[in-house]
This record gives sequence, C-alpha cells and structure tokens, in this order.
Amino acid sequence: MAEWRRVASKADLDEDYPKGVHVDGQDIAIYLAGDQVFATEGICTHAFALLADGHVEDGKIFCPLHQGSFDIRTGKAVDEPCDEDIKPIPAKLEGDDVLVEI
Ligand code: FES
Repeated sequence: MAEWRRVASKADLDEDYPKGVHVDGQDIAIYLAGDQVFATEGICTHAFALLADGHVEDGKIFCPLHQGSFDIRTGKAVDEPCDEDIKPIPAKLEGDDVLVEI
C-alpha cells in the first residue's frame, strides 16, 4: 500500500541540481521547479548513472554520464542516447517538507 514519506526539506533543494534520496532500497531524484517539487526514479535507463549527479535545465534532468535527458515532470526520455523513459514518482510539498509516495 502506497504511503507518503518525508524525504527532504524544500530548503535542501536547488533548482539547478537534483537531490538524491534512497528510500526502501530505491534511488530517487527530487527536483525543485519554482514552488513545485517532482521526483523520478534515480537511475538512468541508458546505462548505470545516478541522475542525482546530473543537472537540471529547461525542465529536464541531464544524465552525468552521456548527457542524455528526461523530462522531470513525466520521466519521458527527451535527448539521446536516452530512449527509455524513467518512472515518475508522485511528490508534493507540505510546508517545508518534501514528500514522495512510495
Ligand atoms: S547512462 Fe545516462 S545517458 Fe548514458
């Protein structure tokens, strides 16, 4: 059964860089865009790289390894060599608390 879990403070987030968290054995990348937060699974689908080590630009997370990208809102693969989507994870803010649905 899914539950909302606090994983970070909004104050810990940076619009230009994702924050990586590890929840129940799962790597998750958290993104801040204005007053909204988004989350996706945290490992690139192209090869093995932690998306939390990448950077965010124009609403896309760029993988640190080969610079492919995904939409931070939908997880859709946007730039090559990424062609397999990552899973979006429901995320929300409650005050300064960042919650993801696990
Ligand atoms: S591992 Fe992410 S683009 Fe290659």
